[in-house]
Amino acid sequence: MQFCETQTYNNLARSFAGESQAGMRYQLIAREATAQGYIALADEIKTIAKNETVHARRFFEELTKRGGESIHNIDINAGYPFHTGDLVEALRLAAEDEKVEHERNYPAFAATAKEEGFADISGLFTMIATVEKHHEQVFRYLHEAMESGNLYKNESPILYICKECGHKQTLKEAWDVCPLCKSSQGFVALHIPYAKENV
Ligand SMILES: [Fe+2]
Ligand SMILES: [Fe+2]
Repeated sequence: MQFCETQTYNNLARSFAGESQAGMRYQLIAREATAQGYIALADEIKTIAKNETVHARRFFEELTKRGGESIHNIDINAGYPFHTGDLVEALRLAAEDEKVEHERNYPAFAATAKEEGFADISGLFTMIATVEKHHEQVFRYLHEAMESGNLYKNESPILYICKECGHKQTLKEAWDVCPLCKSSQGFVALHIPYAKENV
């Protein structure tokens, strides 16, 4: 069977499109976070956006490596999210999108790739699914922290660090204005507990 006749060929094309779009959607969320002064939050989202574009690159490489010069066009029949809404809701929807990727799409694509004899592509889908699970946890934490107003609050004192000047202080709530450099709270580094658990 020609590679272009396999389901894996189509799944790689779908995944390339999905990851490319996720990367762009997250850049838009980061842009909105920046506009609202949440600079450290925007940095976290930009990191995830970058991860998605690298996932897209890997799918593109696997597709073109095997498809060779015979690929000129691939018709993709798939649904992709086009959410609108405010920043807090955007974070929740991003978590939901990540959940679909790591719970449904990529495990199914990994199984198909294995059945079709592409163990390495199956492994790639599985590795990326693991990253998407982590992304879901980060977005879910960020959503809950923003919704409850606790992005810069903690029940017990924790170390807050200004990303601009490096000022550090152990507090229950981060400063509104950095006592050293006068930067706003949005420049204070975030505490993402789920991210640390998964390292
Ligand atoms: Fe991804
Ligand atoms: Fe992701």
